[in-house]
Order: sequence, then C-alpha cells, then structure tokens
Amino acid sequence: MSTINEPYSVSDIRALKAKYDKLLSEISLHDRLYYRENNPRISDFEYDCLKSEVERLREILTIYSMETKDTTIGDDRTSGFQSFAHLSPMMSLANTYSREELFQFSNHLEAIVGPQKFSYVVEPKIDGIAINLIYKKGKFFKALTRGNGTIGDDVSANIKTIKGLPLKIENHFGSIEIRGEVYIDKQTFIGINKAREEQGLELFANPRNLAAGTVKTINIDEVIERNLKLITYAVGYCSEKIASFQSEVLECLKNLGFASQEKYWIAESIEEAWKYVEVLGAMRHTLPHWTDGAVLKINELQFYEMLGTTAKSPRWAIAYKFAPERAVTRINDIILQVGRTGIITPVANLESVLLSGTNVSRATLHNADEISKKDIRIGDYVTVEKAGEIIPAIVAVDTKKRSVNSMPFVFPKICPACGSQLVQLPSEVAWRCQNLCCLPQIQRRLEHFVSRTAMDIDGLGTAVIERLMADQKLDNIADIYRLTFNDLESLEKFGTKSALKILSNIDDSKNRPLWRLLHGFGILGIGEQTAKILAKHFRSLNNLIAATSEKLERLGGIGAKLSNAIVAFFREPHNVQILSDLRMLGVIHDDTHLETAQDQDQNLIFHAKNFILTGTLSSMTRQEAIEKIEHFGGKVSISLSRNVHILIAGENCGSKLEKAQSLGLEIWNETDLLRHLNGVMA
Ligand code: IVH
Repeated sequence: MSTINEPYSVSDIRALKAKYDKLLSEISLHDRLYYRENNPRISDFEYDCLKSEVERLREILTIYSMETKDTTIGDDRTSGFQSFAHLSPMMSLANTYSREELFQFSNHLEAIVGPQKFSYVVEPKIDGIAINLIYKKGKFFKALTRGNGTIGDDVSANIKTIKGLPLKIENHFGSIEIRGEVYIDKQTFIGINKAREEQGLELFANPRNLAAGTVKTINIDEVIERNLKLITYAVGYCSEKIASFQSEVLECLKNLGFASQEKYWIAESIEEAWKYVEVLGAMRHTLPHWTDGAVLKINELQFYEMLGTTAKSPRWAIAYKFAPERAVTRINDIILQVGRTGIITPVANLESVLLSGTNVSRATLHNADEISKKDIRIGDYVTVEKAGEIIPAIVAVDTKKRSVNSMPFVFPKICPACGSQLVQLPSEVAWRCQNLCCLPQIQRRLEHFVSRTAMDIDGLGTAVIERLMADQKLDNIADIYRLTFNDLESLEKFGTKSALKILSNIDDSKNRPLWRLLHGFGILGIGEQTAKILAKHFRSLNNLIAATSEKLERLGGIGAKLSNAIVAFFREPHNVQILSDLRMLGVIHDDTHLETAQDQDQNLIFHAKNFILTGTLSSMTRQEAIEKIEHFGGKVSISLSRNVHILIAGENCGSKLEKAQSLGLEIWNETDLLRHLNGVMA
C-alpha cells in the first residue's frame, strides 16, 4: 500500500499510464503461460511483484481520474472440457510477502469488527490447483477447476482417480461445495521428473505446474500414473450451516471423509499467529506437499459476512507468502552425466552454499539449450533458487562479475565417458550417447534394476556396483545372480556378514512379482504403473514376449510408441541372451506369476477395463455402480461388443448374459462386484 507524496505532471501521468498498460499486457502473457499452458516463464515471486506494481500504479492513476482496466484473477479454462458454474464464486486470496502488511491486515480487521474478540487459524498454503467438489444429496456430482472464478472446467473424471476421494458423504441435505487443493507430492514429482529426464523430455518446472497439467490431461492412464492427491480446507456453498468456526470446518471435512489440513494452528492474536507463520516457515520442507506460504483466516465465521469481499478476494483472510530463498554462488565446473538411457545431463558443480536449510553444491542445467539460452559459463557467479522447494535451479547469471577471459560453454558432441558420437533425436532437447556398452549407462541400468521400486535388492548400492564393475564381476543384470561370496567379500572393507546378507537379498529377489522384473528392465516409457498393468494382464513373461504390438495396444494406456518399444526390447539380440540367462538362473519363471497380496494393486482389477451392466442390482443403483467402477479407472459401456471385458449380471438379466457367455467374456454377479469393490476400498 503506497502513499502518494508528490504531485505528478500530465506527462508523468501519461508515462505511468503507458507503463501500467505495458505491465498489464505482460501480466496477461504470464497468466496465459501459468493458468492455461502450465509453463511459467517467471517465478511466483516475480509475478507477485509485477502484480503489486500494477496495483500501485492503478491507485495513482485512479486519483488522477485515469480510467484503468481491472486486473483479473486469471482463467484456467481450456478447450476439451465442459464448463459449469460454481454454486458460489471461487475467489483468490490477497497476498503479501511482508510481516508489516500482515499486521496492517490485522489492524484493519480490528477496526471493522470493533470491540468483539476474534481469533485466527493459521494453515499451510498448499501450492497446487484449487478444486471445487460439488456433492448433491450426499453424492459426488462434479469436480470443477476455478476457471474464471464463476465458471470452471469439469475435471470430474481425473479427480475421481484420487485415492480415497469420497463418492458419498454423510450429508444428505441439498448441495455442498467442498474446496481444496489438488497437488502432486514432492516424492512423486521428483520421480516423474527423473523418468522424464531419462526419456529426454523437458522437465516440469515445479509440482504445481505438474498438478495443473495433470488435472487437465485427457489420457486417464497418465492421470492415474501421476498419483494426484487432495487436501480440503473450506466449504463454499452449503444449503445448511455446518460450523461456526474455521477450525470446526477443518474437523468437519475430516469427519466427512476428506483429507484435510493435518497441521494448523489457532492463534488468539496476530502476534501469536506470526509465531505460527514462522513455525510453518521452518517446518514446511518436511511437509509432503509444496507449501508456498501460510493462510491466515479469521476463525469465527460469524464475521465473514460483515467483512465481505473485494472484487477478487475475501477480507477475512490473507496469504503470507514465503519469499523464495536465493543465494549467490560460483560455478566451479560444469560436468556431464550419462544417464541410464544414454541421455547426457549437464550439472553445475557449485561452491557449496546454504539454501532452504540444506547445503547445495550441485544444480542441474537440464540440457544444452538451457545452458546456451542463459549463457551459463564455468566461473560465473549465479543466483540459485530451489524450484518448488526441491530442485536447486540457476535463476540468474551475474554477467558483470564475469572475468574477461570467460568463454561460452561448448556442449561436446562426443560422450564424455566412452567417446561415442552424441545424437539429438527429433523432438528431443537432450543429446544421447547410443552406445549400449557405455559404462555409466550400464551402471545406471544396474542401479535401476536393484532399486526399491524394481527388484528391491538391499545392499547393492551405487558404490558396491561401481566396485564390482571395476573388478569385472558385473556387466549386465544377469551377472547379479552369478555373484559369489568371494566376489563380494573381496571388496575393500566388506565383511563376511554383509557379503552373506547381500547374497541372501539377491536370492530373495528371484521371487519378486513379475511387474518388478518388468520395471527393472528399464524399457523406455514403462514406469511402475504400466509394468503392473502388463504383469496383471499377461501373467507371465513368456506371454508378454509373445504379444504383438496390436495385442499390446488393445490394453488401455498403451499407445503405438510404447507397444513398439516393448516388442523391440524383447527382440533385441543382447536382451534375448540376457533373458535366457535370467531364466537359467531362476529369475524368470515360466509359470504364471501370482502376485502377493502386498504387491497386488487392487485398482488394476478395474483399471482400463470395459464393463457392461445388465439386470438390476440390489445393493446399489445402476448409477452408483457406474460411479464406483469409473472411480477405480474402469469404463462402463452401453452395448455389448468384443471390447467389453467384464459383464456384471444383476437380477433378471436378459439376453446380454447369454451373448456375453458366447463371446467368452468374464462374468461377475453382484457379490463378485461387491467383493472386488471392497477389495479396492479396504
Ligand atoms: S482458502 C477465497 N486455504 O491459494 C479463497 N486457500 O492464492 C479461499 N490455497 O485460491 C481459499 N492453501 O487455491 C485457502 N489453506 C488454504 C489454501 C488455499 C492453498 C490456494 C487456493 C486459493 C489460492 C489463493
């Protein structure tokens, strides 16, 4: 909030107006990149600075009777989605980066509320995508994005992939809107970006952008893979009063079955609230979601009406945003890492610097384009920021501090490890080494194979693999099963006990479920979820090896590119040899794999399967059954065809049952359906 000390001349005002218009069009460009394309070019902090400068100019121009267009709150609506009106508007929050403004906010509230006492609730500000969940007569009706605040996009199908989202709530009166944030947790985000890096794809800037992109993804299998999560924090429209305090709202949401804020504080004064903001600031890195600030809300809902709203935000709440922590440091070197799939990733070795509570000494430079776009050079002084609190990123280069002898970084055209010619495949930004025998690639493939999400062989860490490779005991994944006690014990500083433990872990891994083995192969594009789908469907490696790409594509979620990659993988002569060795060594069993309860992902019973319902069900309506099946990723068809996988036969079903039997379809009765649904929901 600025004060105007000096009068402005007519030409000053004209210049300010021109600046105002320019900033507005800049903001509208960034709104488009942020809300519609999920590809921001500037940080949230820079965006908020632009916004507050626009507001400052608008105040001045209004005083000088200049007409100004209002800044909007952005609009996330995109083509391909149907729009619906919210029952009550979805507003934004006023935000600040300053403690002083937070105290001003409190003074302002006290002035309006008068002598009556009120308290605050301090909540984490989750940086994801705002969602409005509408329930009618206790049943899930729609999930809408914020859109323009009045009308949002219907993203129900994608939101229904969120595990644990209640489809029914104990609230049978009229309609209720539950408001919350959809997000992707930090660990999933890191995993997804790692996989993208290995595939030579551009990385997601932060978990918020990934969540925004996922909520608007058409391919449901991709949405399932991204593992969206939800935290609810408010009720929009509700046909009845459900609480008197915001803290009660949060508890009520929990009782209705929603994930709600786990961590929040009630404060009796703004001083106490500030203390909790600081506590949150210190602990936010430990939360599973990206937390970009604290939201202060008046706890007593009775004052909300009296305080009202501005055009964009309620006056009873404010967001205090944590300024991004940045640090200046020097790039000592730029090294090139060779990944599992041969992708070369440039990494900056930094003079170690403290950032967001940890020492940072490396920052990924992503790819050659990124280095040349930012003209990043060895010896440069750079500003480092943690993108989405997670990945250290170089946000600026101080060219003034550059030495006169500094030279642009030249990205090599040969592999730094094996000297092969690097190639850049069409549509990829990355450069790749295509030599399958390139040592770092072999090492990364072995590391992936033994990793926790694949064969889970404890004790075979990076250092052990590196030493075994140097001793020429490990060259491919089959060699793992040829390791002897002597091979391990002879490693420097390795005791008898550790050697025996690793051998026993290796032996145990021979009984892992098929999907783990498939995932461990590291076939391009096959993540954990796709591996599970393939294992569930084919049940043995032999069946999968025999599958044609047409057959693979008939499975939901597998496109032409992926099916060709799978077929090619199993035809490649080196791989054929390794598979035969693995068979001989007892790692591949030719009988069908029966998954253990722990490894079985019940969701896959419904995932990507086409169902058909016939006859009447006694325990639920037809619509409820459809909703439940769809919730777990199944599709319900109207007509019987060869594309249908399972027919659910209720009471008094007619000719469809016979036809399904003649087509050889799987048939469930109502008890089967309930058993499978309970399995999923347990
Ligand atoms: S209350 C009037 N509580 O932040 C809006 N919002 O920048 C009431 N957000 O649009 C929202 N965490 O998407 C509220 N604990 C929290 C929040 C939260 C994140 C989001 C929400 C809102 C945006 C404003």
